[in-house]
Amino acid sequence: MAPSLLSADFARLADEVQRVEAGGAEVLHLDVMDGHFVPNISFGVPVIEKLRPASKMFFDTHLMITDPLEYAEPFAKAGCNLLTFHIEVAPEPMAVIEHIRSLGVNVGITLNPGTPASSLRRVAEAVDLVLVMSVWPGFGGQEFIASSLDKLREIRSWLGPHQRLEVDGGIGPETVVRVVRAGADTLVAGSAVFGQPDPVAAMDELQALSERAIRPTSP
Ligand code: DX5
Ligand code: ZN
Repeated sequence: MAPSLLSADFARLADEVQRVEAGGAEVLHLDVMDGHFVPNISFGVPVIEKLRPASKMFFDTHLMITDPLEYAEPFAKAGCNLLTFHIEVAPEPMAVIEHIRSLGVNVGITLNPGTPASSLRRVAEAVDLVLVMSVWPGFGGQEFIASSLDKLREIRSWLGPHQRLEVDGGIGPETVVRVVRAGADTLVAGSAVFGQPDPVAAMDELQALSERAIRPTSP
């Protein structure tokens, strides 16, 4: 489970982060929006830089920005562990992958619901993680797009055992089992974790559901 900070209380960010970390979260999903690639603006380098000393979690940063080549470096320097960029803004994705790697962080690539899986077939083997957007990026709390399941299955079939397959958007108790069975191993959840009165209990429930999805017969 990777809780998405987008649904946290922005007036109490460090507390929110430490709460899920103390509850067992190892990955924190950070949604960076520039108001160009997506019709919303969230937070950027200064916020991540300030959060970094407050947490040991893996900072999984989702760059919803039009120019990842220009901005990857300050995000890496701010302490992000992985930078995921959108294929839609990268006519030459290998150049972006190589640049991000040269900064000493992991690389992810992602695609919008309207972009076919085939668009990243030729670069999939070069990344650490593929992120399947199961809503249109820009906002939390949207409904899961069911066609993402086929996309997950297709992309999973290309990836090696050390590559991660992440899914983002509309993940909650109703969708966890389906995405895990379709091959996702990293589940982003915003409103289903930080949007709940008890984020740790919500995360535990999602974790239990996902474990049951892969081991349906365990006691
Ligand atoms: C949407 C973001 C998501 C968002 C998901 O643009 O990429 O990470 O936080 O929110 P939920 O889990 O509420 O759909
Ligand atoms: Zn995201």
